[in-house]
Amino acid sequence: MSIQTIGVIGAGQMGNGIAHVFAVAGFNVVMRDISEDFAATGVATISKNLQRGVDKGKMTPEEKDAVLARIRTTTSLEDFAEVDFAVEAATEKWEVKKQLFETLDRVCKPGVILASNTSSISITKLAAITKRPEAFIGMHFMNPVPVMQLIEVIRGLATSDATFDTVMALSQKLGKTPLACNDSPGFISNRVLLPMINEAIFALHEGVASVESIDGIMKLGMNHPMGPLTLADFIGLDTCLYILNVLHEGLGDPKYRPCPLLKKLVDAGWHGKKSGRGFYDYNGEKPVAAL
Ligand code: CAA
Repeated sequence: MSIQTIGVIGAGQMGNGIAHVFAVAGFNVVMRDISEDFAATGVATISKNLQRGVDKGKMTPEEKDAVLARIRTTTSLEDFAEVDFAVEAATEKWEVKKQLFETLDRVCKPGVILASNTSSISITKLAAITKRPEAFIGMHFMNPVPVMQLIEVIRGLATSDATFDTVMALSQKLGKTPLACNDSPGFISNRVLLPMINEAIFALHEGVASVESIDGIMKLGMNHPMGPLTLADFIGLDTCLYILNVLHEGLGDPKYRPCPLLKKLVDAGWHGKKSGRGFYDYNGEKPVAAL
């Protein structure tokens, strides 16, 4: 099947980034969220991010308009009857994804590949919700999607070679680098990243160093673009905790136990940058350490 129209579920941080890169690569996109307001906010973010390219002379205003014209929004999953490929980037909750994939499986044409951008839920288990597990795959984009080069491509137990090859080729059409991984808790990216972030939080919790020192040491010493606590705020502390719990339960090893300080911040509603406060306070002109 030739892939021309992409369905993207979710217009949030990841969903609008995914819609952005597909539209830039020339695909038509149907972006769905649960309300018109959420979808409109997603389009406004795409417009703002495309404008960065216009301001730097990397894209003309006409090219930006053409990219935006390729994106249509909807609140109805029934509109996915017309798509040739679907990527889900909804909230990281099993019940939400279960309902979505039951509907997508019913609505999407036979043979259409269903991909999930989940950061940690088992691809094999998600695939089993559908009657097309061979056409189900993990397509894990990194945040910010328009900037990050990697797509982690995760094969579920039943994913066919044809599905895998199509997704590898599609990722390359986006100008990204797809790298393959088998289905296992946290895949590779989060299995390696989250223990580092958790360790940084334990170090803070034990008073080994301040927020600024921990981030500065890892930024300047390891050449990381962001320190681990800044990165945790950027990912979302609720998401970090969710992924650590998946690693802890899925691999059964106490080395993955989430730091109590992370749990406390999540309980307080301090979810990082998106909530205005996490390890840093984002309400002023510049972020300042909040702990
Ligand atoms: N959309 C489009 N372009 C963007 C953007 C966005 N949302 N955010 C930044 N950019 C562009 C900027 O316009 C700029 O472009 P030019 O190079 O053309 O000038 C470039 O990206 C760099 O941006 P800035 O100069 O504003 O800022 P920076 O140099 O500090 O970089 C960053 C910002 C790219 C976010 C960088 O700090 C970084 O790479 N951080 C680490 C990000 C990371 O680790 N992401 C993975 C998170 S884990 C994950 O996503 C998976 C998971 O499951 C949890």
